[in-house]
Amino acid sequence: ARITLRQLLDHAAEHSYGVPAFNISNMEQGLAIMAAAKACDAPVILQASRGARAYAGDRVLARLIDGLCEMYPEIPVCMHLDHGNNLATCATAIQNGFTSVMMDGSLREDGKTPADYAYNRDITARVVQMAHACGVSVEGELGVLGSLETGMGDQEDGHGATEKLSHDQLLTDPAEAERFVSETGVDALAVAMGTSHGAYKFTRKPDGAILAMHVIEEIHRRLPNTHLVMHGSSSVPEDLQAIINSYGGDIRPTWGVPVEEIQRGIRSGVRKINIDTDNRLAMTAGIRRTLAEEPGEFDPRKYLKAAMALMQKVCEARFEAFGTAGHA
Ligand code: G3H
Ligand code: 13P
Ligand code: NA
Ligand code: ZN
Repeated sequence: ARITLRQLLDHAAEHSYGVPAFNISNMEQGLAIMAAAKACDAPVILQASRGARAYAGDRVLARLIDGLCEMYPEIPVCMHLDHGNNLATCATAIQNGFTSVMMDGSLREDGKTPADYAYNRDITARVVQMAHACGVSVEGELGVLGSLETGMGDQEDGHGATEKLSHDQLLTDPAEAERFVSETGVDALAVAMGTSHGAYKFTRKPDGAILAMHVIEEIHRRLPNTHLVMHGSSSVPEDLQAIINSYGGDIRPTWGVPVEEIQRGIRSGVRKINIDTDNRLAMTAGIRRTLAEEPGEFDPRKYLKAAMALMQKVCEARFEAFGTAGHA
């Protein structure tokens, strides 16, 4: 059944677990995520970016979600817009059946320029007013995602801030977070503490200097009833990097967010954990391996099945690690 982000995260807070929000842009990802949710008896957040909506098309995406919900009526599903950049993107998501939208006003509408507080507050408050009138939840974001090692945003992926950022911009200010939540009425707040999107987050296993989990703990102390969201939370597993690289791929040495750091976040109010890259790596690993081991194979179902199997394993591991399992 379809539920809102607020309903799901309220339940998660009451029972002290976190919920992975997996990005989706095609059928195979949807089938793999839902198979994992079923296997773990877990509720799930499916999220689509603007890029995903453009890739699949809103109509196909909406029917895909309908199909997945009908296929697994026992699994609570929140359908969420990832990184909405203006009122219209959020409105059309709602028209297509999304039960939750993110208004990311930490950046201007171009998705690249850091925004000031007033811009972010005003646009987010307008989206909250509209979405809540429709029974839809809203996630806001305060602080800009990017690397504390380099000060750079998400250039690697072609989205996110493209200018060099200061520590002040890269770390959500806890006092400002308090003000933002009360002035906007968001249901969940994404915070910045050193993670970035994509595979190249850290050049070494992150410690407190480059992954500032203490910022989350401080925000949680001030806002104990606010659901916190971690973006850029793929762990970039070494074994998937190794499979890709041993079958002709070229992933440079890199580190993601260790699962134990996310678990620490969950103890401090993190309820939604955004994961896209790990599933992209899993699918690519499965496809590369199948094509390399069976060069005569040309039925897409063959290598996509391998891709789905690896992706399902990643999703199941996250449901278990975040305590989502058993809460469907
Ligand atoms: O925002 C980051 C998500 O991984 C979505 O990426 O914009 O390439 O679909 P995308
Ligand atoms: P990753 O690139 O770490 O998977 O982050 C995804 C994300 O934050 C989507 O909004
Ligand atoms: Na989001
Ligand atoms: Zn994100």
